[in-house]
Amino acid sequence: MAKIAVLPGDGIGVEIVEQALRVLRALDLPLEMQTALVGGAAYEAHGHPLPDSTLALAKAADAVLFGAVGDFDFDHLERHLRPEQAILGLRKHLGLFANFRPALCYEQLMHASSLKPELVAGLDILIIRELTGDIYFGQPRGRRTAVDGHFPGAEEAFDTMRYSRPEIERIAHVAFQAARKRNRKVTSVDKANVLETFQFWKDVVTEVHAQYPDVELEHMYVDNAAMQLVRAPKKFDVVVTGNMFGDILSDEAAMLTGSIGMLPSASLDAHNKGLYEPSHGSAPDIAGQDLANPLATILSAAMMLRFTLQQAEAADRIERSVRAVLSAGLRTADIWSEGTTKVGTRAMGDAVVAAITGKTITKS
Ligand code: IPM
Ligand code: MG
Repeated sequence: MAKIAVLPGDGIGVEIVEQALRVLRALDLPLEMQTALVGGAAYEAHGHPLPDSTLALAKAADAVLFGAVGDFDFDHLERHLRPEQAILGLRKHLGLFANFRPALCYEQLMHASSLKPELVAGLDILIIRELTGDIYFGQPRGRRTAVDGHFPGAEEAFDTMRYSRPEIERIAHVAFQAARKRNRKVTSVDKANVLETFQFWKDVVTEVHAQYPDVELEHMYVDNAAMQLVRAPKKFDVVVTGNMFGDILSDEAAMLTGSIGMLPSASLDAHNKGLYEPSHGSAPDIAGQDLANPLATILSAAMMLRFTLQQAEAADRIERSVRAVLSAGLRTADIWSEGTTKVGTRAMGDAVVAAITGKTITKS
């Protein structure tokens, strides 16, 4: 029986994960699910956003289903106690170095994109973000008195951008292998024109590419990539990049599809164990109001079945059901448009469950 650690977190995390769990239960698979607190909710109960008990549960599980963390109430805390540290800690302690963020534009939602429909119709790109290195985790970091620079003697803060060869090699392999299952093109995004770290990135990705002659490799500077993503997004297939650039570009790519509320993500270790979470955040402003779109989390559960639990058929069933619900015209507020039916979080979950169990979808 596969063990799933369920970490709903804060804000809308709780209600969207609840819908994903209902969908998983409807599939009747042998899954053992255990829930624990994480983020601000865990800080309130245990004084830490990632308590040892939660980390232990996540480590012992085959996969982690994660909601979202963060709430305005915790923004004043010292950095190591803020809710965001929970997700960074999980990535680090579970070795989740490969982050898959697909940006898929559903035909039914083409008109919700901020770009012209013809630019995004059929869009299907995969951003692969390195997730445990770069300036996010590089040491040293901190505050000190400057000894040099433009203002010696002034107070300053600093972080360290760094990547080792094995870190780049392994994420490059992940990207080339993913491209083999798609359109065989990888765009490696860097800033080699300015940064030593990303000249090295570019060199190492080029070396690894020698093992994948059947995959096309192109290099692109991050500023240009940000531009090309809104100019001609369909020219991309797999994009591979570092932690920080990937953070930024994946939000940009998400928005092309109409709503970040639709996009799942997977963060994998070297053995396909993974943490699955929606690409969006905890949206505390709409929490508890039955407004949030649960589809990104439901689709994250599908990714979990596909990548970690080797249940491709069940994953297909979820994805087909989501498409059916969209085709039936059901929309949460974030993807609603004239002529479609606005529903809440729970009703959207109901509709996906109904589609999975073969019942007809009603528009009420
Ligand atoms: C993400 C988020 C996180 C990140 C935050 C919450 C720490 O923006 O998953 O993209 O920066 O990685
Ligand atoms: Mg982000």
